[in-house]
Amino acid sequence: MKTAIEMKGVRKTYGKDVVAIDDLSLTVEEGTIYALLGPNGSGKTTTIRILTSLANADKGNIELFDEKLSTHKNFLRKWIGCVAQQSGVDPMGTGRENLMLQGKIHGLKGKALKNRVEEMLTRFHLQKDANRLSMNYSGGMKRKLDLAMGLIHQPKLLFLDEPTTGLDPEAREDLWKTIRQLQQEEGLTVVLTTHYMEEADELSDRVAFMNEGRIVAEGTAEELKNKLGGDTLTIQCTDNAQAVHATEALKKFYQVTRDERTLNVQSKQGAEELPKILKVLENDQTDVRSAAVSRPALGDVYLMYTGKALREEKK
Ligand SMILES: Nc1ncnc2c1ncn2[C@@H]1O[C@H](COP(=O)(O)OP(=O)(O)OP(=O)(O)O)[C@@H](O)[C@H]1O
Ligand SMILES: [Mg+2]
Repeated sequence: MKTAIEMKGVRKTYGKDVVAIDDLSLTVEEGTIYALLGPNGSGKTTTIRILTSLANADKGNIELFDEKLSTHKNFLRKWIGCVAQQSGVDPMGTGRENLMLQGKIHGLKGKALKNRVEEMLTRFHLQKDANRLSMNYSGGMKRKLDLAMGLIHQPKLLFLDEPTTGLDPEAREDLWKTIRQLQQEEGLTVVLTTHYMEEADELSDRVAFMNEGRIVAEGTAEELKNKLGGDTLTIQCTDNAQAVHATEALKKFYQVTRDERTLNVQSKQGAEELPKILKVLENDQTDVRSAAVSRPALGDVYLMYTGKALREEKK
């Protein structure tokens, strides 16, 4: 398999004080879907801006399809499609007009342009609404149009910055299906950022967790979950103070993380361990509101590496 992206030791600062990403290294194989997860401000968009040559890194090496990013920018841009976090759709244009304009920007003309626009409208089920002003599109339709615009010039590498934020579950699954189809049928390589654990879990071949500009864990979703080595016991205390107390009591015996009044305890055999844990807490006179055992989810791994839950997940 060829390598689509190779980043080594990349750093980007804004002004004197903001280190947006630091010592970032990652590899994305061609034809795979790669997800970047992390809380607000962790450097996901910055990473994408650098990889799409919209921003320059301060240091580090970047290669796209074995070509150095810094020296072949225009050449590489043909291979890259990007759907930004903020929609790039012109609200005063119709869906078709938006696609035509985007195609022209990429040098398509005449029949080839027209055919490609119709192909995109069909692929994203937008034919019926092609002549409506896009300001009247629903959020899901706008996002589909964004995606179609990003793909108009048939890139082999597509960047999607939070493609499904704000979409309802049905529209989200629909978009996942399309992305998967593009990967399977056209061998497209996709790098996406998301705040949704299940999106990364379902869709991507590999996942990187970012925190404060660095990758703190990386692997397939399965590999990451296996790092926890067992079940997660979720214990909810009556308040934060009780939870702090409980964390102290359990830390001696278990691997414990806390997010406000919720404790996550890792255990190989959760169901058998739970009564023992409750006993420890009872002896310690901690008030427990509820306790549950679950197989590890990707969010638990994130919690282990960063000590904080993804903020968006709690909404
Ligand atoms: N143009 C800029 N000027 C100054 N600081 C910036 C700029 N762009 C990003 N930053 C800073 O860099 C850091 C990383 O931001 P970035 O947008 O990459 O985060 P993110 O992971 O995409 O967050 P979100 O989930 O909110 O989209 C933040 O501290 C941010 O304030
Ligand atoms: Mg962002």
